[in-house]
Amino acid sequence: MNSLNLDSRRAAAKVGLESDVISIEGGRPLRGTIDVPGAKNLATKAMVAALLGRTPSVLRNVPAISDVRVVSELLRLHGVQITEGEKPGDLVLDPSNVERAHMADIDAHAGSSRIPILFCGPLLHRLGQAFIPDLGGCRIGDRPIDFHLAALRSFGAVVDKLPSGIRIEAPHGLHGANIELPYPSVGATEQVLLTSVLVDGQTELKNAAIEPEIMDLIAILQKMGAIITVEPNRVIFIEGVEELRGYSHTAIFDRNDAASWAAAALATKGDVYLRGARQPELMTFLNVFRKVGGAFDIDEDGIRFYHPGGALQPVTIETDVHPGFMTDWQQPLVVALTQALGTSVIHETVYENRFGFTDALNKMGADIVVHKEGLAGYPRRVARRAFEQAAVITGPTPLHGADIEVPDLRGGFSHLIAALTAEGTSTVSNVGIIARGYADFIGKLRQLGAAFTFVD
Ligand code: EPZ
Repeated sequence: MNSLNLDSRRAAAKVGLESDVISIEGGRPLRGTIDVPGAKNLATKAMVAALLGRTPSVLRNVPAISDVRVVSELLRLHGVQITEGEKPGDLVLDPSNVERAHMADIDAHAGSSRIPILFCGPLLHRLGQAFIPDLGGCRIGDRPIDFHLAALRSFGAVVDKLPSGIRIEAPHGLHGANIELPYPSVGATEQVLLTSVLVDGQTELKNAAIEPEIMDLIAILQKMGAIITVEPNRVIFIEGVEELRGYSHTAIFDRNDAASWAAAALATKGDVYLRGARQPELMTFLNVFRKVGGAFDIDEDGIRFYHPGGALQPVTIETDVHPGFMTDWQQPLVVALTQALGTSVIHETVYENRFGFTDALNKMGADIVVHKEGLAGYPRRVARRAFEQAAVITGPTPLHGADIEVPDLRGGFSHLIAALTAEGTSTVSNVGIIARGYADFIGKLRQLGAAFTFVD
């Protein structure tokens, strides 16, 4: 068994999936109503933020995904007591007795998530030292942590690379810093926020990421007593304070989960109401959804996404930082584009290896050509990054069932959509990877009328 299969089995087991393999009978439209969960990419970071408070925090709308389980386990290793709150999805995090964890216990989580890197600042503040295991997360490119480490060093931290993981200390304390990120990295922006709020002095962060999940994290930190000003042009200004308290907060909805199920509704010619989806954070997605030929109705409680009939249209998309088209949205949407009348182009500018999932789609009958060096001459809106890639999708191509293996979280959801869209039976293995980020996706498939069974 390779490490991806093992990761997938572990993730499947954490959320109680019957098996890591499902057999899907495709060709049925998804129809019905499902709830959009709280955002994975906020909840996991909000849980880390609880370490900064002197009193317990309450986080509501926490998605039931294996990434949340991994972060819970790491927090517990550091003495944080985590209990369920009044309602499903509520977590109470009590950091009153934060303590050092054994390196071997932390190391047992090596490779399981990217969130541990965000423990650096909070653990330095609480314990004066942090040991961070080797990181995991989706294999969609190199995913270095150089911006994180440079930022931590500018606060005065000292980083030692170990054979496995890193040790980080602050022998002379942490002080405010002027930091300019080479690229508006989501994780590095969160690293700076989670560290700067309690340092001695002021911090100016230039070229920050301003994703909605980051704004929600800033809202949480403000509730805890932090002073953070978001200025124009991606500048964030943080005034360090001496102490923070716990927070009470409801996590923002997961716009990646919403876009994924919307893409599934379109590809399968279905009609899905997503309770809890909100327009402002999905505006860019909604524009593209409409251009491709999908339809949506927005009301107070959610958004209905459906295929209104007629041919789907090709599009050209450049993935980008917020408020651009998210890299996480391209993978699920590609399946619908295989059914569009003509040639679509996706320029992936955020990660250097996010088209691996298209091999399986081609096996199922799609016509997707990946240009590993990108398509430089193509008319573009965003500045070209050194490693970007492009995928050219020519449709419409009927899809047929096949045996496919989930490669990463969003690519895996794309495989699910392809299997649901295809004529015939597909066997999808490694579905545990999908459980890392999609809450109750098996229950939702049932609710929407998908035909599938677990395979032993
Ligand atoms: C977050 O990853 C999300 N993950 C990703 O979602 C999402 O795709 C990404 O932001 C972009 O929106 C989580 O929030 C857990 P980055 P993150 O730092 O923070 C380069 C999903 O499926 N970079 O903004 O790791 C990096 O290689 C996941 O939910 C450096 O070079 O993304 C990439 O090219 C997948 N050095 C770019 O910046 C660094 O130190 C953006 O990465 C850090 C990043």
